[in-house]
Amino acid sequence: MQTITITGGQPLHGTIRPAAAKNSVLPLLAATLLCGAPCCLRGVPELSDVDTSLALLQAVGAKAARHGSDLCTLPVHASALCGEIPAHLAGAMRSSVFYLAPLLCRAGMVRLPLPGGCRLGPRPVDIHLAGLAAMGARVELGGDAVTLRRFGPLQGVDFTLRLPSVGATMTLLMAACCAMGTTVLRGAACEPEVCDLAGFLSACGAQIAGAGTPVVVVQGRRALGGILYTPLPDRIAAATYGAAVAAAGGQITVRECPPRYYEAFLQFLQQCGVQVTRRENAVELVRDPSVPLRGSQQLYANAWPAFATDTAPLAAAVLLEAQGESQIYDHLFANRFACAAGFRAMGAECQAAGHRLTIRGGAHLQGACVTAPDLRGGAALLVAALAADGTTELRDPGHIRRGYADLPGDLALLGARCACCRPTAVR
Ligand code: EPU
Repeated sequence: MQTITITGGQPLHGTIRPAAAKNSVLPLLAATLLCGAPCCLRGVPELSDVDTSLALLQAVGAKAARHGSDLCTLPVHASALCGEIPAHLAGAMRSSVFYLAPLLCRAGMVRLPLPGGCRLGPRPVDIHLAGLAAMGARVELGGDAVTLRRFGPLQGVDFTLRLPSVGATMTLLMAACCAMGTTVLRGAACEPEVCDLAGFLSACGAQIAGAGTPVVVVQGRRALGGILYTPLPDRIAAATYGAAVAAAGGQITVRECPPRYYEAFLQFLQQCGVQVTRRENAVELVRDPSVPLRGSQQLYANAWPAFATDTAPLAAAVLLEAQGESQIYDHLFANRFACAAGFRAMGAECQAAGHRLTIRGGAHLQGACVTAPDLRGGAALLVAALAADGTTELRDPGHIRRGYADLPGDLALLGARCACCRPTAVR
């Protein structure tokens, strides 16, 4: 298990640039299976979920490789593709679900064992399956896997998502590109990563209108080519750096990530007392550590453009020492605040009850030994440790590296006293 040590009380200074967004790169990699020419994604960080995706692509017969920070894929003939996703790869990340549509379309069948990922509460895939079934797929649920088959091409449909699921919108976008005729998706998710996938598919030759709005219309069966594509910057990583400077104090610039991608989080930081200057493609953040942060906030995390669920634990970390009681309600996930136990070990007064986290505020955080419960919860514990007196030992069973190539290294570059001890090999 990797251990990160953080000694708090060191203000942050400097400039940092978020890498490409994990939640764009992972579906884009799956979507390359639909392309009839080589594709290359630029500036892809070395995340363990990216490694898992490369292994998954290879396991189903595709050719994908890293060349420096670029990830390149080669087109693969349908007869060379296998729809059986190995259980250990499906179980390693939630994003294995993105392979349902491309493998169903190209290989004619797909068998997906239970997808893994952060344990944020129940994460059903019923909307993905209902949409694909409406397009003509036969869905078989059995044991710990779902199997989809098609007998002929998928058919375009007019389908309403029962809630704006990011993953299901992406699944159905990919399927619609292969389906006969027109597909209308209603109640679609509007997150920037959905627009990024639509942008990628369109640049490859797909015909998609309305991405980023609740109604998306796709004309299917266009032959998709290849492309050199730069995915979106990671807005959650940008928010993480913002949370870090709010907790530790100092002055940083987050560059090459437009403020509109994390505007709700920037407004939250301003309400706490952080000075935020928005530029076209960058944000400057200043916090005087001698002035207490303002708490007494009510945050409500929900689908875009609301406060992002992935930033809810980061906001919590900022509010622990702020003045006044705050509440955060995460509409999407029932176990978003598993990091509350770690916050308490550091001396915070906070209580998670289902979707809600209550923070008493005004804590004087102390370094402690804590464990990352999931990706964003782990990042939030790291942020809280930057504000704590003394040294925190953060044990991470691999969660943080699923979404940040080197978060301790990034923060150390900004001046944090942060180091990472990677596990030593067992002989
Ligand atoms: N849902 C259903 N049925 C479905 C699909 C979703 O009930 O078929 C529910 C979920 O249980 C959840 C809500 O809908 O309560 C929203 O889930 P959504 O499908 O939008 O999320 P996701 O696609 O599973 C992606 C990101 C998450 C991010 C959410 C919300 C990826 C790989 N993951 O998950 O990111 O929190 O959207 O924005 O893109 C992370 O990066 O740490 C992370 C968890």
